[in-house]
Amino acid sequence: MAEWFEAWFDEDYARLYAHRDAEEARLAVSRALRVAPELGEGPVLDLACGAGRHLEILRRANPLAFGMDLSSALLRMAPSALRPWLLRGDMRALPVKDGALSGICLWFTPFGYFSDEQNHALMLRLGHLLRHGGVLVMDYMNAELVARTLVPEDTLERAGVRVLSRRAMEGDRLVKRMVLTHLDTGDTREAMESVRLYHPAALQEMAVRAGLRLRSVMGTYGGGAFTEDSPRWIGIFERAW
Ligand SMILES: C[S@@+](CC[C@H](N)C(=O)[O-])C[C@H]1O[C@@H](n2cnc3c(N)ncnc32)[C@H](O)[C@@H]1O
Repeated sequence: MAEWFEAWFDEDYARLYAHRDAEEARLAVSRALRVAPELGEGPVLDLACGAGRHLEILRRANPLAFGMDLSSALLRMAPSALRPWLLRGDMRALPVKDGALSGICLWFTPFGYFSDEQNHALMLRLGHLLRHGGVLVMDYMNAELVARTLVPEDTLERAGVRVLSRRAMEGDRLVKRMVLTHLDTGDTREAMESVRLYHPAALQEMAVRAGLRLRSVMGTYGGGAFTEDSPRWIGIFERAW
């Protein structure tokens, strides 16, 4: 059976998350470029780039930026001008040489999808792919806030789809089980997300083991300070050795 992350990131995901849009990406990328100007030069990978909303903005500053994602459905939605700069593949098998990248961005939580062992291995690999002084942007959930404000069940309608979502912590993972109904046809399907909820200290420890040093933390895409109520935990790391 397919893993949840192979099955879920398709047209329905894109419909339901359409509010995660180009404007949010513009804010995030312009802020990140200020904190990490390294993203503006040399090969930079937008890892799990989806339909390329961040990549499109980043490429205005850096013509060597490229993206990779597993979902052919999302990659097909990318603007045609991005096509030559998009790869399809699994982040656990990155076709990039060690030390080749000036930067890697993981926008909007594409981390924590695998087992602890695989998540740690991925972080180590990301560290190795960066050149000395290269930067990693890890845009992740604020784990404390998520655990504190978890809504066990709700229903929403967006873009012609009704979604019943049930959320729970299952061990260390935040699991969301969804039933989607297309309102025009009545067709239903199930989908899920299961993300390891890492606290900032755990992410940092993993990154340090990968040779990375924390340069800066933001709690919002606009560069707001991180607090216990911040919507995001955005760590910007640099390769220390
Ligand atoms: C929450 S979305 C974020 C997409 C994009 N960064 C954005 O902000 O719009 C997570 C992305 O991770 C991708 N993904 C999931 N598992 C993956 C894997 N094993 N390798 C590469 N990409 C993966 C999905 O296809 C999806 O595009």
